[in-house]
Amino acid sequence: MEKTISNLSFLVPIVFGLFFLGHNDVVSVSGQLDNKFYDNKCPNLTRIVRNGVWSAISNDTRMAASLLRLHFHDCIVNGCDGSVLLDDTNNIRGEKNALGNRNSLRGFEVIDTIKTNIEKACPSIVSCSDILNLAVREAVYLAGGPYWNVPLGRRDGVTSSEASANAEIPSPFEPLANITTKFTNKGLNVKDVVVLSGGHTIGFAQCVTFKQRLFDFDGSGNPDPTLDLSLLSNLLSICPNQASSDTNLAPLDPVSIFKFDNIYYKNLINNTGLLMSDQALMTDNTTASMVQNYARYPYLFLKDFATSMVKLSGVGVLTGQDGQIRKNCRVVN
Ligand code: HEM
Ligand SMILES: *[C@@H]1O[C@H](CO)[C@@H](O)[C@H](O)[C@H]1NC(C)=O
Ligand SMILES: *[C@@H]1O[C@H](CO)[C@@H](O)[C@H](O)[C@H]1NC(C)=O
Ligand SMILES: *[C@@H]1O[C@H](CO)[C@@H](O)[C@H](O)[C@H]1NC(C)=O
Ligand SMILES: *[C@@H]1O[C@H](CO)[C@@H](O)[C@H](O)[C@H]1NC(C)=O
Ligand SMILES: *[C@@H]1O[C@H](CO)[C@@H](O)[C@H](O)[C@H]1NC(C)=O
Repeated sequence: MEKTISNLSFLVPIVFGLFFLGHNDVVSVSGQLDNKFYDNKCPNLTRIVRNGVWSAISNDTRMAASLLRLHFHDCIVNGCDGSVLLDDTNNIRGEKNALGNRNSLRGFEVIDTIKTNIEKACPSIVSCSDILNLAVREAVYLAGGPYWNVPLGRRDGVTSSEASANAEIPSPFEPLANITTKFTNKGLNVKDVVVLSGGHTIGFAQCVTFKQRLFDFDGSGNPDPTLDLSLLSNLLSICPNQASSDTNLAPLDPVSIFKFDNIYYKNLINNTGLLMSDQALMTDNTTASMVQNYARYPYLFLKDFATSMVKLSGVGVLTGQDGQIRKNCRVVN
C-alpha cells in the first residue's frame, strides 16, 4: 500500500525552528549529554545524517515511521545504547529477535548506510546510538513533525538481550496500566505514554497486532464493541480471518498515513484507534483528558512530543568511558 503513495510534497519543511527547544529543556533531563558534543570532532555529522534520512524516506515514505519505532525500541530496553542494532552472535541472543521486533522492526540498513558515511568523515568518533537519535529527529521533522535539539555523547552498549526486550517492550495486547508501568520503570510518566503514543500518527501495523479486535475480542466471537463500524469494515477487507493475512498492513492513522500530526488523537476520540493499546488511552480519565487536549491543540502536541523524545533519548545512556564507539552498528568491536 505504501508504495503507491509517492507524493512527498508534505515533507517540505515550512516552519524550521518553530519547535526548536532551548538548551535549558535539554540539560535538565540528561545532564551528561551535550548537543555540541561532536561540533569540533565531526562538524558534518548533522548534514550526513540528514542526507541519509532524506534519501531513505524519498525511496520509502514509511521509513520515517520505522526509524521512530526503532529508536523507541532501542531506548525502552536497556536504555538508548544502540543495542537493538546488534546482530545475534553465538554468544548473544539480542533484542533484534525479540517478539515485538522480529519480522517487524525496519530501518537497520538506513542506519548502516549513514554509519558508513560518517565513518568515512570521522572514523570511530560517533556512536551508533547518537546516529539513531539524530536520524529519528530528522525523520520526524521530514514527516511534518517538530524539530528539537538532540543531546549527544551517548556511547554504544556491548550487550543485547532478547529476554529483556520481551519483558520491557510494551505489547498492544496488555492493559494500559501495564504499559504505563513499563514507561515508569524507565523514568517516564503517564504524560509521556500519551504523548509518545502519538508516534502512531505515522506508519503501519500488521494485522496480527490488532486482529483479535476484529474477530474475537473477548472470547465471545464478536468484534471489539468500541471499534468504529466503518473502520471495522475497512480492516476486515485488509485482514480476512485467516492466518495468511497476519502480515498484511493497515495504517495506524488512516486519515493522514505519512503526516506527523495530531490526528491520531482525533481518531481515538472517534473510536478509530487501530491497536487495542491506542484506544485504551480513552478508558482512563487522566489519559483521555490529555488525548482531548492534544486533539484540540496541534502545536501543544508537537511541542510536548519533542520534549518527551528528548526525555526518552536520555533513558539509560552510557557516557564517558562506559561502552564503546562501535565501528559497525551490527557488531561489538
Ligand atoms: C505505548 C505502547 C506502544 C505499543 C503497545 C506499541 C505497539 C506497536 C505495534 C504493535 C506496532 C505495529 C508493529 C508491526 O505490526 O510490525 C507499532 C508500530 C509503530 N510504533 Fe508503536 N507502540 C507503542 C508505543 C510507541 C512509541 C512510544 C512510539 C514512538 C514514539 C511508537 C512508534 C511506532 C511507529 C512509528 C510504528 C509504525 C512503524 C512502521 O510503520 O514501520 N510506538 N507499535
Ligand atoms: C564537510 O562537508 C563539506 C561539503 O561536503 C566538505 O567540503 C568538508 O571538507 C567537510 N568537512 C569535514 C571536516 O569533513
Ligand atoms: C528502497 O525501499 C525498498 C523498500 O520499500 C527497499 O527494499 C530498497 O532496498 C530501498 N532502496 C534503497 C536504495 O534504499
Ligand atoms: C499486567 O500486569 C499484571 C501485574 O504485573 C500481570 O499479572 C498481568 O499478567 C499483566 N497483564 C498482561 C496482559 O500482560
Ligand atoms: C471524527 O468524527 C467526526 C464526526 O463524525 C468527523 O467529522 C471527523 O472527520 C472525524 N475525524 C476523524 C479524524 O476521523
Ligand atoms: C471518570 O469519569 C467518569 C465519567 O466522566 C466519572 O463517572 C468517574 O467518576 C471518573 N473517574 C475518576 C476516577 O475520576
